[in-house]
Amino acid sequence: MKAEVEARRSSNSRRRKVYEGKAKILYEGPEPGTLIQHFKDDTTAFDAEKRAVLEGKGVINNRISEFVMTRLNAIGVQTHLIERLGPSDQLIREAEIIPLEVVCRNIAAGSLSQRFGLPEGQPLPRPIVEFYLKDDRLHDPMAAEEHIAAFAWASPQEIDDIRALTLRVNDELRGVFGAVGITLVDFKLEFGRVRDGDVSHIILADEISPDSCRLWDSATQEKLDKDRFRRDLGGVVESYAEVARRLGVMS
Ligand SMILES: Nc1ncnc2c1ncn2[C@@H]1O[C@H](COP(=O)(O)OP(=O)(O)O)[C@@H](O)[C@H]1O
Ligand SMILES: [Mg+2]
Repeated sequence: MKAEVEARRSSNSRRRKVYEGKAKILYEGPEPGTLIQHFKDDTTAFDAEKRAVLEGKGVINNRISEFVMTRLNAIGVQTHLIERLGPSDQLIREAEIIPLEVVCRNIAAGSLSQRFGLPEGQPLPRPIVEFYLKDDRLHDPMAAEEHIAAFAWASPQEIDDIRALTLRVNDELRGVFGAVGITLVDFKLEFGRVRDGDVSHIILADEISPDSCRLWDSATQEKLDKDRFRRDLGGVVESYAEVARRLGVMS
């Protein structure tokens, strides 16, 4: 195992880095149209004003995202995941990322609670899908479909596809987490375009992990997600590990 980890590490160091973001690094993949997505231990919040390195987080998020995306692939939601390569690396299909953060909410929390004065924890009458422009310098402003279409961030057809996919992801993930006593409060997705011959279609990209979801223990309402970091609640990695343990992906 140790040798394998070392081999991966050195193979990544030989690969061309395509992009380094706040939580992940993308390297050139072994074949055209592929990338290696490396999960870092780095954590940021509030437009990267707050930062920390949380040892072990990358390995856990790699596993959780692999597990969740495998479940989604199985129900016909195409994702970028090809296979996990090592403790913190996965092979993915390269996509042209649509510059939107697509948020789906089941229960009021975070910015929705603040903007509309809803108590955190209030169930919503139905799932709500929101779009934000992915642009840290502008603090990810909310975008209406009018803006998305007018500025050609995505076509009206793509927006429809993204909304439908997001709601399917929500249905599946509520079930997956619900079965292990975890309530899916809300989550953020990113989508990208891929080409098969002449036709372009949308796939789910990026990650699904406690960094990108609000997850509450169904019995105690305890937070098992990045809000532990945002709100200085402590035990961040321990909570992520608890999610992984309940999903059966780590001991
Ligand atoms: N399949 C993919 N193809 C190309 N880019 C991707 C894919 N999946 C995710 N990305 C991009 O890779 C980056 C992941 O690194 P991350 O640390 O999350 O970056 P950021 O700080 O920009 O959010 C994001 O910018 C994301 O949009
Ligand atoms: Mg990101």
